[in-house]
Amino acid sequence: MRNVIVTGGSRGLGLAISRRLVADGFHVIAVARRETDELREAVSQSDGALCFAPLDLSELDAIPDFVLRLKKEFGAPYGLVNNAGLGTEGLLGTMHNSQIEMLTRVNVTAPIILSKYVVRNMMSAGGGRIVNISSIIASTGYSGLSAYGATKAALVGFTKSLAREVGRMGITVNAVAPGFIETEMTASLDEGDRTKIAGRAALRRLAAPEDVGNAVSFLMDEKARNVTGAVFTIDAGATA
Ligand SMILES: NC(=O)c1ccc[n+]([C@@H]2O[C@H](COP(=O)([O-])OP(=O)(O)OC[C@H]3O[C@@H](n4cnc5c(N)ncnc54)[C@H](OP(=O)(O)O)[C@@H]3O)[C@@H](O)[C@H]2O)c1
Repeated sequence: MRNVIVTGGSRGLGLAISRRLVADGFHVIAVARRETDELREAVSQSDGALCFAPLDLSELDAIPDFVLRLKKEFGAPYGLVNNAGLGTEGLLGTMHNSQIEMLTRVNVTAPIILSKYVVRNMMSAGGGRIVNISSIIASTGYSGLSAYGATKAALVGFTKSLAREVGRMGITVNAVAPGFIETEMTASLDEGDRTKIAGRAALRRLAAPEDVGNAVSFLMDEKARNVTGAVFTIDAGATA
C-alpha cells in the first residue's frame, strides 16, 4: 500500500482528504497535535488503512526524527499533503508579533521543512506527490487576513519552484486553493456571512471539504502524472 502523510488530518479539510485517500486505496498517516473523536472513529473503521501520528508542527526540530520514525514504521512515503494550518485573524496593526511568528511557522516554515525531509525519501524512491493546501485568499486578499494571506501565497511560490526542482526525479508538486468551506477554522462566521459568500459564488453555494478531498485524490492519481506546479481553485466559482 502506498503511504500518504496528511498534516492536519484530524478534522476539517484534512480529515476529508484522509477519508478520500483511504477510499482510493492509500495508507494514510494523519498528523495533528491531538486525535479527535471523528478521526478515532475513522481510524477504527479503516481496517488499518488510516492511522494517527501526533506531532506539533510548530516544533520544527522534531520534524526530521518524525519523518525517520514514519519511514521505519510504514516504509517510504509516496505522498505528502501539507494541509495543517492556522487561520489566525486580526487587523495587522493590533496583531501580536508572536501570533504573526506562529502563523508563519506553522503555515510556511513547517511545511517547507517537512517537505524537505519527505522529498529526500521520494527522490530515492524515484517519484512521489506533494500537495500544498493554499487558499483563494492568497490571490484575492481579505481584510483581517493579511498575515494569513501572506502564508497562503508563500505556499504557491513554494509549490512552483519545488515543482521545477524535483520534476526530473518524477515528483509532482501542486497546490489546492479552497474558497470558504465550513470547518472549525471558519466557525466564527455566522449564517448571514455564509449566505452572503455563497450568494456571490458562480454556483450559488459553498464548496465542501469533500470537494477538496476529490481534488487531492486526482493529484495523487496516475491520471495527474503530467500535472505539476499547478494551483487548483476549489471555491464553487467564488473567484470565477
Ligand atoms: N476552511 C476554509 O474555509 C479554508 C479555506 C481555504 C484554505 N483552508 C486551508 O485548509 C487547511 C485546513 O483548514 P481547516 O479549515 O480544515 O482547519 P481546521 O478545521 O482548523 O483544522 C486544522 C488542522 O490543522 C492541525 N494543526 C493546527 N496546528 C497544528 C500544529 N501546530 N501541528 C500539527 N497540526 C496542527 C489541527 O489539529 P490540532 O489542532 O490538533 O493540531 C487540525 O487537524 C488550512 O491550511 C487552511 O488554511 C481552509
